[in-house]
Amino acid sequence: MSTRSVRREAPAKINIFLRVLGAREDGYHDLESLVVPTSLADVVTVRDAESLKVDVRGASELVGEVPAGGLNLALVAALALGDACPDAGGAEIVVEKRIPVAAGLGGGSADAAATLLALNELWGCAVDEGTLAELAERLGSDVPAMLAGGPILMSGRGELVAPAEVAPLHWVLVYFDFGVRSPDAYRWWDEAGGGTGPDPQALLDAAAAGDPEALGPLLFNDLERPVFARHPVVAEAKERLLAAGALGAVMSGSGSSVVGLARDETHARAVAASLPGSIVVSAPPS
Ligand code: C5P
Repeated sequence: MSTRSVRREAPAKINIFLRVLGAREDGYHDLESLVVPTSLADVVTVRDAESLKVDVRGASELVGEVPAGGLNLALVAALALGDACPDAGGAEIVVEKRIPVAAGLGGGSADAAATLLALNELWGCAVDEGTLAELAERLGSDVPAMLAGGPILMSGRGELVAPAEVAPLHWVLVYFDFGVRSPDAYRWWDEAGGGTGPDPQALLDAAAAGDPEALGPLLFNDLERPVFARHPVVAEAKERLLAAGALGAVMSGSGSSVVGLARDETHARAVAASLPGSIVVSAPPS
């Protein structure tokens, strides 16, 4: 009997604005953010197996930080889907890591969303979209946007997702060998007395029009100030991107990654050339 398998890409996201509106009673923060998938992606493959197990493969500096056991979000996603699906069996989940971990790029959330979709298919669960969205919300604030796919205007704590129009653009991504935990970033925002960025309408218009010159100066992330205060190298990366000619630069999510916006692919390569270790991504993928 041949083993069936289902393979899905799990794209990293960048937040091209992130506006924190305020702390909530439940420990989360209300926010608004434009979440855009990138050409940088993990690959999740699920295949029939006796039991449920996760195998994380990839560059050792990435995989070393990904728990393969109980805390792995792909495994938690599989267990959650299993509860909702009478036909659930075992599965081997292989995650090929390309996305830096805890970098504000939603790698773990993307893997979890891809696992839900892939196992729903492998197991023939036919769990409907609404139920998958509820499972996604329980798994983490970024998972609903990753499950929906495509550019998303997210609100609430992350569970409210609306499709957004964003033209393909080229970005230079700078990442670090350390991450920032989101609970820390939000707590630092509280301790700093908050700070909420502007109405994003002009930014949304520039993103929809695919106008990088207009978009560059409008990028913002309210978590930057508190994260930069603890991690000056992240602030420096933003400065270096701007000094290298990026039209704008912004930290993604709760950090530590920073992205710089380029005019086009040639310009992105030129900016990346002066920042060792940086990579060029398109977002949304062209
Ligand atoms: O939902 P997720 O598990 O990704 O959130 C991790 C932590 O990040 C939360 O427990 C909370 O401290 C913080 N967070 C927040 N507001 C959000 C999302 C996350 O305060 N909208």
